[in-house]
Amino acid sequence: MTTPFAPRRWSSRFAFLMAAIGSAVGLGNIWRFPYIAGENGGGAFIAIYGLTMLAIALPILVAEIMLGRMGRLSPINTMRKLVAENRAARIWMIIGWGGTIGAFVVLSYYAVIGGWALKYVELALTGAFAGDDHAATLAHFESFIADPYALSFWQTLFLLLVVGIVAVGVTSGIERAVVSLMPALFFLVAAMAIYATTTQGFGAAMDFMFAFKFEDVKPDTVLAAIGQGFFSVSVALGAMMTYGAYLDKDVSIGRSAVIIAVADTGIAIMAGIAIFPLVFTYGLEPTAGPGLTFITLPIAFGTIGGGVLIGSVFFLLLSIAAVTSAISLLEPVVAWAEEVVDMSRRKLAVITGILVWLLGIGTVLSFNLWADYRPLAPLGILADKTFFDTLDYVALNILMPTVGAMVSLFAGWVLTRESVEEALGVHGRRWLPLWRFSLRYVAPLGVVSIFVANVLM
Ligand code: PHE
Repeated sequence: MTTPFAPRRWSSRFAFLMAAIGSAVGLGNIWRFPYIAGENGGGAFIAIYGLTMLAIALPILVAEIMLGRMGRLSPINTMRKLVAENRAARIWMIIGWGGTIGAFVVLSYYAVIGGWALKYVELALTGAFAGDDHAATLAHFESFIADPYALSFWQTLFLLLVVGIVAVGVTSGIERAVVSLMPALFFLVAAMAIYATTTQGFGAAMDFMFAFKFEDVKPDTVLAAIGQGFFSVSVALGAMMTYGAYLDKDVSIGRSAVIIAVADTGIAIMAGIAIFPLVFTYGLEPTAGPGLTFITLPIAFGTIGGGVLIGSVFFLLLSIAAVTSAISLLEPVVAWAEEVVDMSRRKLAVITGILVWLLGIGTVLSFNLWADYRPLAPLGILADKTFFDTLDYVALNILMPTVGAMVSLFAGWVLTRESVEEALGVHGRRWLPLWRFSLRYVAPLGVVSIFVANVLM
């Protein structure tokens, strides 16, 4: 921490909420949540998801924003400060380092997928899906990902947007972007969901998403819910900790976290309401998994009247969601760089962006030239995984559960009750003991079980 840098503060609670919801609402909500819910019991999954959100993801979210506001620095230096102040063991530094490295790694591939979303805005706008059947949209997608130059072009464009916003600064860059992009995103999702109610497949879609299909609840459904909720509210990668560091002392963290979690879940559900009626109206496959967004939906966009507009709106909202999440992955790294390197934020954002881009090339190549390359083949469990799969697997199943559990344990065991009450600015509230109980036992067990079930079993 050698250099002075421009003060980093949100100018209002609204700005913080838009940035945090922007972080939370991402590819996870619009691309992943709908198909995970559909495959894991519909309404039954949504109910389980709600419970795990309350018991696990929300308590960790409160803890992470709180740690950030206590330290007021990047996750690495916030943890350095909190470890010193509490005379805690050095091992807790894993929260700062693990989160920041994780953010860097996840951003490297998130930007590639974000680039797909941008590319599909172009395809939708130019009417490329007109009259397409499944074979045609599949061919579109496969020829796109087979071309490393095309993938890298869109990855680069996506990163330029993200770096451009972060480079300008917290208030004039990030805040300015999210306060206009997020309301636009809410509006677009709502418009699509309302449109979907007029389609003929609406009833079947609601049944698919909301009927309690207990027969589809599998043994690992609860784990899927925990993992999804955890990723969806953006904890364990330093993003919320960094955003918390810029938050004013008088804003209620508990209330903000509830707003973030409710908005995040609400938008995920609205995305499902927007998507599935189209899928059912055209007799498409609702359980196409990850291909739902880029292969199945374009068939519908190519068929419906006004499909050019509806398809463009959909991929535009997917792109906005991805950009505002990616910003929150770059900021923890740039914030740290600003604290330790004597250079302007602009330069540091560009340098970080170039490094992220370089690592991202590995993901770009995983879909084509390196499709058969298995970087960590000797490690058993990673034997069948491409470069991209390996990063994704390690981040989601190992790094994030570790950091998440440690955030929870640090806030629950290392910090005293008095100091967290002081940090949150609340005293004697009834939810406080429940929150601490979750941090001490429930949340760490919940996230560690993802690791145990997926990695060790
Ligand atoms: N929450 C984002 C999503 O749903 C992903 C993300 C995770 C972003 C962690 C930042 C930090 O896509």
